[in-house]
Parts: sequence; C-alpha cells; structure tokens
Amino acid sequence: MQKILTIVGARPQFIKASALSRAFQQLGVPEVLVHTGQHFDANMAEIFFREMEIPWPAYNLGIHSLPHGAMTGRMTEAIEQVLLTEKPSAVVVYGDTNSTLAGALAAVKLHIPVAHVEAGLRSFNLRMPEEINRILTDRISSFLFCPSANAVKNLKEEGFDHFPARVAFFGDVMFDVALHYSQIAVRKSKILAQHQLGGSPFLLATLHRQENTDDPARLSALLEALNSLAATYRIVLPLHPRTRKIIESAGPKLKFEPLEPVGYFDMVELLKNCSFVLTDSGGLQKEAFFFGKNCLVARDETEWTELTELGYNFLVGADKNRILSKSEEISQLNRPFTAKPFGDGDAALKIAAFLKQQLF
Ligand code: UD1
Ligand code: UDP
Repeated sequence: MQKILTIVGARPQFIKASALSRAFQQLGVPEVLVHTGQHFDANMAEIFFREMEIPWPAYNLGIHSLPHGAMTGRMTEAIEQVLLTEKPSAVVVYGDTNSTLAGALAAVKLHIPVAHVEAGLRSFNLRMPEEINRILTDRISSFLFCPSANAVKNLKEEGFDHFPARVAFFGDVMFDVALHYSQIAVRKSKILAQHQLGGSPFLLATLHRQENTDDPARLSALLEALNSLAATYRIVLPLHPRTRKIIESAGPKLKFEPLEPVGYFDMVELLKNCSFVLTDSGGLQKEAFFFGKNCLVARDETEWTELTELGYNFLVGADKNRILSKSEEISQLNRPFTAKPFGDGDAALKIAAFLKQQLF
C-alpha cells in the first residue's frame, strides 16, 4: 500500500505534525508515524498526541538522552529498519532536530524521497547543532517546503535551483496550528486560573537552547535578567528539562517558581494573555507574533529574520542590560500585528495536496 512515513521526536515536531496529519487524513493519504523517542517525559511528548489528536505512533524507537553522534547514529539505524519494513512512498521530516537528520539520512540512502517541512532556515552559525541538521537535511531532500520567503531565498543562494529538488513556499504549518487551536485552547486550558494569572501583568519566558544552557555565563545573565524583571512582572517560565537539570545543579537562585513544561493549549492561553515574551525557542518567536505579542529573542542571531526586520521581535542575546532596557521599550510599543510573512494558514493542506499529486 502506498503511504507516507512521518518522523517525529521532539516537542515542536509533534506540534507541526498535528497540522499535516490532519491534512493527510482529509485527503485520504495513509500516514505511518514514527516517534524516535527523543522527547519522552509525558509533558514533553504524550500530552501533544493526546490533546492535539495526533495519530498514535506506530513505532516508538525509545532513543534519547545521548550525545549528538550516538543519538543520531542510533536513530538512523533504527529508522532504516522501519523503512525496510514499511516501504513508504516518501518520508516527511520536520525542522532541525537530531530526529530530523536521522530520518532524512536513513531514507535517502534507501532511495526514498525526503520531504522536509520547514526547509531553508539558516542562522549561519555552525556551532548550533540545529544549523548542521537543517543544512544537511535540506541538501538530501527531494521536496523542500519553506515556511517563509526568506527561507526560499536562502536555498536559492545555496544553488538549489541546480539540484534535483522541488522548493515550494506554501506557508508555515505552525501558523496553521496556531489558528486551528486558538478557539479550542480558550475552552480547554485552565492555566490562567490555576496560577492566578488573571489580574497582574506577566512575562512569558522559555529557555532551552544549548548555546544558552551549556554556557554558565549566558545562563546566569539570562536568569538574572528574569530575576530583575520579577520586580515588575510575574515571571511564567515553563522550564525545559534540560534547563531545569542545569539550574538545579549550578544555576543562580531564582526569585520566582518556574513551571513544568506545559501543553500547547496552555501555551496558547499564556501567549494570548502575557505582556511580552522572552525566549530562545524558534517556535515561540513566531507564536508571540501570531498572538500579537512582542518578543525578546535570547539569541545572537535568528532564523526568523522577518520578525526582527519588521520590528516585532528584538535580538537581545544573553545581555542582561539589553534585556532590561528592551523590556522597558517594548512595554510602550503599540504596533498592530498586521504583517503576514508566514502564508495564509493553509500550508499543511497545500503541502499534503502537493505530495499526494507528486507521489500517488
Ligand atoms: C531538542 C533539539 C532542539 C529543539 C528542542 C525542542 C536537537 C539537537 N535539539 O533539544 O533543536 O529546539 O529539542 O524542545 O535535536 N530531556 C528530558 N525529558 C524529555 C526531553 C529531554 O529529560 O522529555 C532531557 C534529555 O534527557 C537531555 C536533555 O533534556 O538530557 C536534552 O534533550 P535533547 O533531546 O538532547 O535536546 P533538547 O535540548 O530537547
Ligand atoms: N511549547 C509548549 N510548552 C512549553 C514550551 C513550548 O507547548 O512548555 C511549544 C511552543 O508553543 C512551540 C513549541 O513548543 O509550539 C516550540 O518548541 P521548543 O521551544 O521546544 O522548540 P523550538 O521551536 O525552539 O525548536
């Protein structure tokens, strides 16, 4: 039977896959989901399958908590076995994690076409594991679905017009997801009441990038900035397990209580109701914009340059003084969030229809 095989492994991939799985179902395209196991805590993985009604993975490879080479290598080996059994028409991979690269590598060596959703993003910083994963995945993909016009431009500049690959811009599936769940989240999430977030202004923050968590100077500057901002705002910091482990062993004392990671519905309600966002997350930089909030990006560069160029988001690195002065500045901003750099909210349906037409 002809089918698509989708590789997921980390939190943002479950969220992105929810949009495409729905579109495949709508178009009658059979899909087999493979979870590498990279994220495994209930609130980093299972919650998204349950609340976003993603088809339960047919395979869970249970590979996690390893150094980069070992993780990617073991995933590639295990995915290869699944591909030999399932013989799909194409493999869909998302984003830039180790699971993405492993899926793409296993597939291309078996001559199975790879479709990369969120292709063409570049930070131009090869010290980021994600940059390596995305460059290599793009190069061996047959179908490259770009989330933005800048991503298409990046691929053109790398010569993709001369490669046997199809580059397409249908929009960002994360915009589809935000639109789809916005009304559902308001009914299902109890997070605002649970944490008495109704009245007082709060800042929503997340921190998990290796460049921040694994550099003690950067991590303490960021946490000290949040400690200072705690004098003005409630700080809502759903903490990635990577960051929690490091703070508990070596971090500065926090003047606020971080939360456990939250589900997507809770995240949407936090985004809608916060004053602004401080994050090093790729996904959250855009979701801040989708829900009409400015965002301080705790990075030295970003792949989502449209939002910094349009003046919605601001790069603040791990610079405490810059974070404090920009926080002051953005609390005065009042720009409407009318730009539409990420498509029309129907990217997943367009991608699924394109793949169906190309493959079946
Ligand atoms: C991974 C991705 C990153 C993405 C992020 C999304 C790579 C190289 N990095 O980073 O691009 O932005 O996911 O969240 O693929 N851990 C748990 N429980 C979990 C998940 C992780 O305890 O459910 C721990 C792991 O044991 C490990 C640490 O967190 O010690 C890091 O996990 P890992 O999957 O290696 O990378 P992330 O930082 O999550
Ligand atoms: N997210 C979530 N709960 C959290 C933190 C993040 O649901 O506690 C969502 C967030 O809204 C976005 C996605 O996870 O949709 C982004 O994932 P993450 O920040 O882990 O990875 P990145 O986008 O940086 O790769």
